[in-house]
Amino acid sequence: MTEEDHTSLDRQGTHGENHWDKRYRDNDDTVLSWSEGSESLSFKWIVGAVSKTSLVVDIGAGRSLLLPALLSAGYKHLTHVDWAKSASLSLQNSLGSRSSNIDWFIGDLMRWQAKTPVDLWHDRAVFHFQTDHILIGNYLKSVHQNVDKNGYILLATFHLDGPETCSGLPVMGYDESSLIATLKSFDGSNWVALNSTVWTHTTPAGRDQKFQYLLAQRR
Ligand SMILES: C[S@@+](CC[C@H](N)C(=O)[O-])C[C@H]1O[C@@H](n2cnc3c(N)ncnc32)[C@H](O)[C@@H]1O
Repeated sequence: MTEEDHTSLDRQGTHGENHWDKRYRDNDDTVLSWSEGSESLSFKWIVGAVSKTSLVVDIGAGRSLLLPALLSAGYKHLTHVDWAKSASLSLQNSLGSRSSNIDWFIGDLMRWQAKTPVDLWHDRAVFHFQTDHILIGNYLKSVHQNVDKNGYILLATFHLDGPETCSGLPVMGYDESSLIATLKSFDGSNWVALNSTVWTHTTPAGRDQKFQYLLAQRR
């Protein structure tokens, strides 16, 4: 199987957009395990790391309130990437006319190409679905191509001691050292960890999930 076949298969199979589209269509945010409020850790770290004129992309953003919160805080160059059309459209609808202040890409994150390399790539609960070296390599290639030379990445994955599945799909858990080591494993990448923490997310159903957060800068 070639690398191209591998990602295409995943796009069409149970890991693909159909799975996610259905999850969002069938459930509102009071049910989806990954839902969180707008005063999130990601929001605080992004505001602390980059200015309001920075280019920020939220990868696999779904119906997250992160971009609306950044928009309200004055960020002007925001991009939403997700292959679940229903999630993207419902977030756009909820924003009304403000939605035109965000760029929307509906499709596979591996296919997204920034017009200008971004200052900050944010991903909460998406990278951890890359469960083998081919998928991880493809993801890191996208990061490498789309993040500015001195840009940042903020990754939030399930922790090594966290759940083994997310939305019914297998995930790869990390701690700080394995996450930064994986990031650096892409040929020619040099990332410096600036901040990291283990964070407990409580799902709407009241279950605790351990996440590993990492903010790193490309040097
Ligand atoms: C667990 S949800 C997290 C959503 C959001 N990041 C948050 O924290 O609320 C995973 C999201 O990643 C999206 N996703 C997964 N793989 C993707 C891919 N290859 N391309 C684009 N979106 C993807 C799904 O559609 C879904 O919205």
